[in-house]
Amino acid sequence: MIVGTNNIVKDIETVFKNYKIFEPVELTYSQYSNVDIQCNNLVKLSSNKRIEEIKTAIINKLQQNNLVENVSFAGNNFINLSLSKEYLIKNMSVNLSELNNDKKSILIDYGGPNIGKSLHVGHLRTLNIGRSIYKINEIAGNNVTSDIHLGDWGMPIALILAYIKKMKLRISKLKHTDLETIYPDATELADNDEDFYEEAKQISKKLNKKDAELIKEWKIIYDVSVENIKKLLDKLGHRFDWFYGESDVVAEAKIVINEAKSKDKILDDNGAFLSKEISDPPILLTKSDGSYLYLTTDLGTVYFREKNADFDKYLYVVDQRQSNHFIQLFKTVKYFELSESDFTHISYGTVNGKDNKPLKTRDGGVYKLEELLDDVKAELLKKNKNEMLVEQLANSILTYSDLLPSRNQNYKFDIEKFVDINGKTGIYLQYAQVRAKKILDQSYKSNKNINYDNLNNDERSLMFEISKLPYYFFNSLDRNEPHHLAEYGYNLSQIFNSFYTNNKIFSESVSEQDTSKRLSLVRSFYSTIHIVFDSLGIKPVDEM
Ligand code: ARG
Repeated sequence: MIVGTNNIVKDIETVFKNYKIFEPVELTYSQYSNVDIQCNNLVKLSSNKRIEEIKTAIINKLQQNNLVENVSFAGNNFINLSLSKEYLIKNMSVNLSELNNDKKSILIDYGGPNIGKSLHVGHLRTLNIGRSIYKINEIAGNNVTSDIHLGDWGMPIALILAYIKKMKLRISKLKHTDLETIYPDATELADNDEDFYEEAKQISKKLNKKDAELIKEWKIIYDVSVENIKKLLDKLGHRFDWFYGESDVVAEAKIVINEAKSKDKILDDNGAFLSKEISDPPILLTKSDGSYLYLTTDLGTVYFREKNADFDKYLYVVDQRQSNHFIQLFKTVKYFELSESDFTHISYGTVNGKDNKPLKTRDGGVYKLEELLDDVKAELLKKNKNEMLVEQLANSILTYSDLLPSRNQNYKFDIEKFVDINGKTGIYLQYAQVRAKKILDQSYKSNKNINYDNLNNDERSLMFEISKLPYYFFNSLDRNEPHHLAEYGYNLSQIFNSFYTNNKIFSESVSEQDTSKRLSLVRSFYSTIHIVFDSLGIKPVDEM
């Protein structure tokens, strides 16, 4: 959507109608620097006998439109438009929420850490993409709720409890760092020791029956782990409206299965329940021993959410390797009639190392998110000694470099590239907005009665780029793809930087009129880039 162009579209359509052409006119941004906007509708009408007449009529009509500065035609009848000063002034700031006339209530399921393990590199993208989609929807005036959906139930937890029991560890002394070794050790033991595995299964069953003694132990693990998770999330600037997990939907999962059975939508095959009719091969809902699967828990979660709120849309921001799971989940939700809302899996690729494989530590181990943050900080500290600032910049880098590649792609994590102040980086954007802030801090001039006559190229380009915010914003919103805004933030900053380099603001040689005009452009840039920051979930720093 190119904001503020309705009247231009209408004018062209009016001319078309006079020539019995009935089709919607579409405008796009031009890739040529001497043209602002293009219309391609005439290209396929090139063989129309009255094409020259139509073109003249378009010129005559648009010459009277005060949003258009100039109309011309390229070789194959592209209509090229430059926008007028009036257009640029009008679109220096917009209310994005007012432009969204289809407000929705949305649940975003993202993050999804498991309480037996620390947050690792694999959680980076769900957190960044999830938060950005949350923010974008919030700015668009949608009603958004985030739910972290903790992995806090089932076999992983049972394995930890079984291990603690077997090794006679003092659970009251448990620290989160212990969990880092307990869980991998317990999984390994279960692979080699059948009795141990059986024991864990019994524990899992008892947990599902909410055995009081076991729940007490589970709660200790939960508290130790969640406290640690929350601390790190806070450091990374993440907060959730709902902090529910798999443990909250045990009863609901049972209800879903029982209701489906009573509606005869499940087939009992050797004790394993499969939903029939909708899928071939059928979807496995419970194991032959009656225990629940990842899918069963997610069905229970849908039931839980439907019971507690009223969402038009559910978005699941989860690794693309789980896409099959979500296909099955959404199919089953509809088949069981659990919800009439829209369900979307927002998938994403992996963060890779230099070898193009998912990023690991140097010795091939799990790369913890906390370590990654520390490594970025260490890299920054090589050039900047201000610890507070480094803390904030590290977050900008981890977020911006993660949101810049389209989410469907894998990308390579390259610390040196990501901290380059002259590159396409979070630091570059921060630097531009700090520059603007410094200028604004020096002046109290109001925005009123500004004369925008005689715009030079830098000023005009900056105004035009500012007017593009809604286009990129709604691209990101409609496709759940933050990278459009990440890309825009860089282009906008670049154009601002050339404007800044080529144009003095406070100088004897600059007229008062130009000072006011340029200040208003800086102000408009500043608020626009802040909307971009906010949309991406990046906090602007105050100084650098
Ligand atoms: N805990 C899961 C995992 O680590 C992610 C949860 C994603 N959300 C969901 N509703 N399934 O793979």
